[in-house]
Amino acid sequence: MRVVVTGATGRTGGEVAREVHDRGHDLIPVSREPAGSVAGVDLYPAADLPALLAEDGGEAGDDTVLVDFTVPVASVDYVGQAAEAGVPAVVGTTGFDGNERAALEDAAESVPVLKASNFARGVQALLNVVREAATALPGYDVELTETHHDGKRDAPSGTATTLLDALDGARDDALDRTYGREGEDPREPGQVGVHVRRGGNVRGEHEVLFAGNDEVVTLTHRAESRGVFAAGAVDAVEWLTDRPAGWYEFGDVIGDGGD
Ligand SMILES: NC(=O)c1ccc[n+]([C@@H]2O[C@H](COP(=O)([O-])OP(=O)(O)OC[C@H]3O[C@@H](n4cnc5c(N)ncnc54)[C@H](OP(=O)(O)O)[C@@H]3O)[C@@H](O)[C@H]2O)c1
Repeated sequence: MRVVVTGATGRTGGEVAREVHDRGHDLIPVSREPAGSVAGVDLYPAADLPALLAEDGGEAGDDTVLVDFTVPVASVDYVGQAAEAGVPAVVGTTGFDGNERAALEDAAESVPVLKASNFARGVQALLNVVREAATALPGYDVELTETHHDGKRDAPSGTATTLLDALDGARDDALDRTYGREGEDPREPGQVGVHVRRGGNVRGEHEVLFAGNDEVVTLTHRAESRGVFAAGAVDAVEWLTDRPAGWYEFGDVIGDGGD
C-alpha cells in the first residue's frame, strides 16, 4: 500500500510516518517545506500532492491512502485533493469549524473519509464507559478536564468535544457547556464545566468527573506516547483502503476488529 502522510514533519505526523514505514508500506511523507527525511525517506513537496496521489502504477487512486495530521485549513485542502484523485483519506487533525467539517463531508461523497479526534483505542473504551456512567448517574454534576502539551493550538481538544457530544447523547437533560469559571460564578444545574490545561510535553489526558449523592466517579485516559495515535491511525489506513465512499469513524475500525 502507498501511504501519503501530510504534516510528516509534525509531532504526530512524524510518528505516523515511522509507523507506516515500520509496517512495510510505501511511505510518501509530504511537507510544505521538504528539507530532509522522515523514517529514512526524503520529504516530498506539498505542491506535488496531486501528482503523488495519482501516481500508483495502476488506475488513479488504487491502493493509495492519504493520512493527515496538520491544521484544519491545510487538511481541508489536502483531503479535497485526495477526493479529486479518488484516494481515501484518514484525518487526525482536530479543531475544524462547521464549514471545514462540511468540506470534509463533501469529500466523503466521492471517497471514503475516516476522521477521528483520537486514535487511541483506550479513548474509544472511555467514550463507551462515559456514556454508560452518564446513563447510570442521571442528575450528577459533570466536569471535564483535558491537559495537552504547550504546542497544542485548539482548545478544548477534539477529544474533549467528542466526549461532550457523547455526554449530550447519553443524558436526557441538555447539558450547558461552561468553559472555565472566574469570579462569582456558581455552578448551575445542568452545566458541564470544561477545563483546559496546557504545558510541557503532555501527550493528552482527559478526565470526566461525575459528582452527586455524596460520591464522586472519575474516568481518566492518559496517552503515554504519540505512538498510540500513530498505531491507531495506521490501523485506520489499512482498514479504509477497500471501503466504499462515505464517512467513517475510528469506532468502525475497532468494531470491525481493525482488520
Ligand atoms: N486524532 C488524534 O489521535 C490526534 C493525536 C494527536 C494530535 N492530533 C491532531 O493532529 C494535528 C497535528 O498535531 P501535532 O501536534 O502533530 O502538530 P505539529 O507538530 O504542529 O505538526 C503539524 C504539521 O502540520 C503542518 N502545518 C502546520 N501549519 C500548516 C499550515 N498552515 N498549512 C499546511 N500545513 C501546516 C506542518 O507540516 P509541514 O510544514 O512540514 O507541511 C506541521 O509539521 C492537530 O490538529 C492535533 O490536535 C490528533
